Amino acid sequence: MTEPDHGEAGSGPGRLVFLPLFHLDNQGLGPLSNLFKRTAIVEMGHIEKLAERILFLKGEAEVTAAGPVEKITEPKAMLQKALGMEQGSQDDYNKAAIACGANADAVTKQLFEALTADEESHFDQYEKQLDNIERFGLNYLALQSFGSAQDAGGPASS
Ligand SMILES: [Fe+2]
Repeated sequence: MTEPDHGEAGSGPGRLVFLPLFHLDNQGLGPLSNLFKRTAIVEMGHIEKLAERILFLKGEAEVTAAGPVEKITEPKAMLQKALGMEQGSQDDYNKAAIACGANADAVTKQLFEALTADEESHFDQYEKQLDNIERFGLNYLALQSFGSAQDAGGPASS
């Protein structure tokens, strides 16, 4: 099995960052926080699947930080960073799938193909949020949080 190359831009499931969630929750942006949270859970599943496959192939599974943690607290900047990371992961997993195919490892190839599809989905969801912010401004996020405040028993219109 070929391990994905995590380039300098940083990508892959090892780059999970939970810090944004606290900032988004603190800013009252629950829906965007939940999107990051759901994505992070899928990424944790990726780590598990990769580790299981590496161990099955009698390799050594090791989880290390791919780079320093960046403290990004502005929602638009978070989404832009996330888009870059998701694209980086797609590129890495695509290359890994091709390498597995070239080395007659169809099972690992399928694993990387499935991970690539997940990353494509993450990219799409983040891109939609960023597009909406660019179209409607940060009011878009504010309106989302107003909805969640109502759902949580917060201020509601009559
Ligand atoms: Fe992802």
